[in-house]
Amino acid sequence: MRRTAGLIAALVLANGSALFAGSAEAQMPAPAYSHDEIRRIMAHGPWPQQPLRDPSNRVSGNDDAIALGRALFFDARLSPRGDLSCALCHQPGRAFTDGRARAQRGGAALPRLDRNTQGLWDVALSHWFGWDGGSDSLWSFAIRPILHPDELGSSAVHVARLLRGDTELACRYRNAFDRSVPPDEESEAALVDAAKALAAYLETLRSGPSPYDELRDALARADGAAAARYPASARRGFALFSGKGQCSACHFGPNFSNGEFHDTGVPYLVAPGRVDSGRHGGIRRVRGDQYNLLGAFSDDAARASGSRTRHVAENHTTYGQFKVPSLRNVELTAPYMHDGSLATLRDVVRHYSELNEDRLHQDGEALLKPLHLSAGESEDLVAFLRTLTSSSFPDVSAAPTPCRPR
Ligand code: HEC
Ligand code: HEC
Repeated sequence: MRRTAGLIAALVLANGSALFAGSAEAQMPAPAYSHDEIRRIMAHGPWPQQPLRDPSNRVSGNDDAIALGRALFFDARLSPRGDLSCALCHQPGRAFTDGRARAQRGGAALPRLDRNTQGLWDVALSHWFGWDGGSDSLWSFAIRPILHPDELGSSAVHVARLLRGDTELACRYRNAFDRSVPPDEESEAALVDAAKALAAYLETLRSGPSPYDELRDALARADGAAAARYPASARRGFALFSGKGQCSACHFGPNFSNGEFHDTGVPYLVAPGRVDSGRHGGIRRVRGDQYNLLGAFSDDAARASGSRTRHVAENHTTYGQFKVPSLRNVELTAPYMHDGSLATLRDVVRHYSELNEDRLHQDGEALLKPLHLSAGESEDLVAFLRTLTSSSFPDVSAAPTPCRPR
């Protein structure tokens, strides 16, 4: 059988067509999936996950709040200079990233942020937000870019006036929150509500199934013919991912993230003499945040959703750790890592393959060892990662029908 395969490959090469090379591989009868392989594949699903309501956000799942959040996300009037919106950094066509190594609010003369813009598909599946997990809810995170001088640079009063001054926004606000937009003196409440509406919108960003999920579903219904459509190289890549590479220890479960923080040996020097302490600073930030899940602005009266925040402890081992990103749609979000220092997926795989153990924090990850992958293995791993790209995405920028006062 091997000889036949070689013959087909040779014929294809003589023919010189890459397209044929693919179909020749597909013609080879693939060995059946073993029980162990199936078990590992099942662990990264099912997909999509059931949406969950956020108990700390009373407008989570509310249609008017979602429409308000969508409008605010794309509206540059949210920034006082009228020149920047969330969507200019989080571009829907780039899986809500900007293609830059590190975010920048505009032209080259303006300051660069320290970090890479995170993608927002399926963001609601996280419980910590930001590369350092400095926020414990989507809505409390959303307050940060609204106020940050290098992002929208806005203020609570500006947000309240925008909501009050626009008929459509004011109508949505009234429907969602059952009251008129608060006056300037109570603008902090308007700011928090705007952030909760933005969060309600972000919760709707749910990516569709990928070729990987199609494989998983095929195996779940014992459809061997459909499973055989999954590329052989990606299958070998997944074997590395869930086996020798130990990638799935951190890139775990349906969202390919364990939701926690780790050090993968990416240098954390931001500028000469200045480091990004990652999770270490994030824990301080979340504990000191007046908008955290233990604070007065959470709508979860029992504060049960704040138990992670209550128990998170400052600890020096968290220095230089960053959030484990989901790998769904990772093909669309280059460049990579918290500082955007790796340009392509090949570079990321090379990073893990040639890992510099000296760079890991002294209490670093015992899990991570240089993998010394062959060229073929590296290609297989990249091929697997590419099968995590959704085959379709919902239209998340279309304006809904105009607001009707209730
Ligand atoms: C100047 C570019 C820029 C703008 C404008 C911007 N963001 Fe971001 N966004 C980033 C960067 C950079 C990060 C990573 C932040 C960090 O780790 O501190 C991020 C992270 C996030 C995250 C966390 C995602 C995760 O998986 O943890 C959310 C949510 C988010 N942004 C929402 C928004 C919203 C909502 C707005 C508008 C109010 C907005 N962003 C405006 C650049 C931007
Ligand atoms: C010890 C936990 C851990 C293991 C094991 C691990 N990763 Fe990661 N991975 C992370 C963390 C944390 C980041 C973000 C690091 C940063 O930004 O500094 C990351 C980032 C990535 C990224 C970039 C994603 C993005 O959006 O920027 C890719 C791709 C990736 N890992 C793939 C892999 C592969 C493939 C393996 C196995 C060879 C692997 N990871 C093993 C924790 C881990």
